[in-house]
Amino acid sequence: MPDTQRKILVTSALPYANGPIHLGHLVEYIQTDIWVRFQKQRGHNCTYVCADDAHGTPIMLKADQLGITPEELIQKVSQDHQKDFSGFMVGFDNYYSTHSEENKHFASLVYTRLRDKGHISKKTITQAYDPEKEMFLPDRFVKGDCPKCGALDQYGDSCEKCGATYSPVDLKNAYSAVSGAKPIEKESEHYFFKLGDFEEFLRNWVDKHVQSQMVHKLNEWFESGLQNWDISRDAPYWGFEIPDAPGKYFYVWLDAPIGYMASFKNWCDKTGVEFDEYWDEASNTELYHFIGKDIAYFHTLFWPAMLEGAGFKKPDGVFCHGFLTVDGQKMSKSRGTFIMAETYLNHLRPEYLRYYFAAKLGSGIDDIDLNLEDFRMRVNADLVNKVVNIASRCAGFIHKKFDGKLSAELSSPKLYQEAVTAGDSIADAYEKREFGRAMREIMAIADKANQYIDTAEPWVLAKQEDKQQEVQDCCSMGINLFRVICTYLAPVLPLVTEDVKAFLNLESLAWDTVKQPLTNHTVNKFKPLMQRVDEDKIAALIEDSRQTMEATAAIQAPIESSPLSDDPISDTISFDDFAKVDLRVALIAKAEHVDGAKKLLRLTLDLGGETRNVFAGIKSAYSPEDLQGKLTVMVANLAPRKMKFGMSEGMVLAAGPGGEELWILEPHAGAQPGMRIK
Ligand code: 2FM
Ligand code: ZN
Repeated sequence: MPDTQRKILVTSALPYANGPIHLGHLVEYIQTDIWVRFQKQRGHNCTYVCADDAHGTPIMLKADQLGITPEELIQKVSQDHQKDFSGFMVGFDNYYSTHSEENKHFASLVYTRLRDKGHISKKTITQAYDPEKEMFLPDRFVKGDCPKCGALDQYGDSCEKCGATYSPVDLKNAYSAVSGAKPIEKESEHYFFKLGDFEEFLRNWVDKHVQSQMVHKLNEWFESGLQNWDISRDAPYWGFEIPDAPGKYFYVWLDAPIGYMASFKNWCDKTGVEFDEYWDEASNTELYHFIGKDIAYFHTLFWPAMLEGAGFKKPDGVFCHGFLTVDGQKMSKSRGTFIMAETYLNHLRPEYLRYYFAAKLGSGIDDIDLNLEDFRMRVNADLVNKVVNIASRCAGFIHKKFDGKLSAELSSPKLYQEAVTAGDSIADAYEKREFGRAMREIMAIADKANQYIDTAEPWVLAKQEDKQQEVQDCCSMGINLFRVICTYLAPVLPLVTEDVKAFLNLESLAWDTVKQPLTNHTVNKFKPLMQRVDEDKIAALIEDSRQTMEATAAIQAPIESSPLSDDPISDTISFDDFAKVDLRVALIAKAEHVDGAKKLLRLTLDLGGETRNVFAGIKSAYSPEDLQGKLTVMVANLAPRKMKFGMSEGMVLAAGPGGEELWILEPHAGAQPGMRIK
């Protein structure tokens, strides 16, 4: 235990409960998890909570599209999220949901406290309303042509072509993205949180608790004036009803951060920890939020102001990170670089990615790039060739010649001490989230360890009768350095850590244990700890990702956006682009398995005379005999694409959440092969 044990509560942003976890999300969860594991390894009392962000219009509409209740949707998505997180060894102490009794309680409590102190105002506003769906439309659900530049099919809040921001009522040719109906304007009374009441408090708070790179952005927000924040939504809305306002609901972003408290409370109830000790205004515990820079506004202005107004503890740090690019570009479905967590795990070890992200992460908000070739080379060079190699070079001799016993003394106490001392700077880097620096400094120790072994040449000494003691000494030294390195890498490589503990015959790799070297200590037989990243596996991952994205032509609802939102999923096309798509009725004349393809079926499609060969990623949902003779809908003018198994000349349309629940679109019985649809 350290001299002063800190009590730390850590959160990552709560993922929306309407879609799967992808590598873009994982930057944050891996970053947070490494930091939390580091704190725990140092002996601090660190608790990591998270939850699904389960409310809001997109979730309501997605459930509607799937024909299930929102409760069913969020239940299923929560299971999927937790499976993905545990696959990447993200070790939450508690994972919960914002759709919970605890969250309802705290949302109401925060709201009523704010209201009673005069921080809530009411105002009647006019908003876009879908007369068919009988619902108010969030800005992102109104589409139309940009009032500034005329670009077609833009969202109701901003134009992706010219960058103009406006209100949905300004759009030309506006339509509802939910029903297609022309929106009307309708009045309704809304509840507002008076953010401006907290300007002075926020200016002080921001200075001390937000990264300097973000402060610049925040100053811009202060300069443009803190606006009242609309925290209510009208029914129908999927969320919590506002206590004193029947038919009005809390906007999802009001109860989302409160979900941090709710998840923690849920954990307190399971473990007996005192909730107030952490959330009381005067608490001396520490609270940190890891988030993406796109949601900084919510976490650095609304959230601390709400906590201040409601009399709770404020965060000690809000740590923003940048976005993920793959091979220098936004993740792309067609290039196969939109990689889901699950797809990655089907091909590669989680720790490769954990290490790579760690090597690239700093404490700032710069985007990080997953360059796939660099990824392979870096992991192989550092983890396999440098770190694991130290143990594989030494362990065999120790096991075979000395029964697993390490020497009674270190042959180079100086080198060992250097490695121990380097731990201070490495710990400092972890603490400051400068993981890239931590990895570089750890690899520098690994380089020295390998040089030491190169110079000592135990494989040469081993052949000389009178040099056996030296063999034991230099290999023991190597294993001691290996143990120090693995201890420093433990926050990043939790699975390897377990194997290393088993090999070294140690109960713990706690940070300070390295101060005591392993002498006269018996180690176990060494088993290879990590294979090289194989080029073929990366190629297979990319191909699988491409197929997975193609297989699920699921309809994507836009997300509840933030002021800086950069949703990598919602690439839009204009109506003109859409009009180019040639949709035709096709008869599935033949359906066959494809040798070596896990997801694909080969379909021979008859377009009323013309035949097409199409590979469709629907094997998880259909067997070939179910498909033969069916009519389906295909995109007939898609450019032919060379796939691993042959040329694909079009695409069949299917919808559903994926797996077994994927349905090809079937036209009306009277349709004829070749018929155009539109
Ligand atoms: O941007 C998002 O994905 C949100 N679901 C994050 C919410 S974080 C917190 F406030 F709950
Ligand atoms: Zn425009």
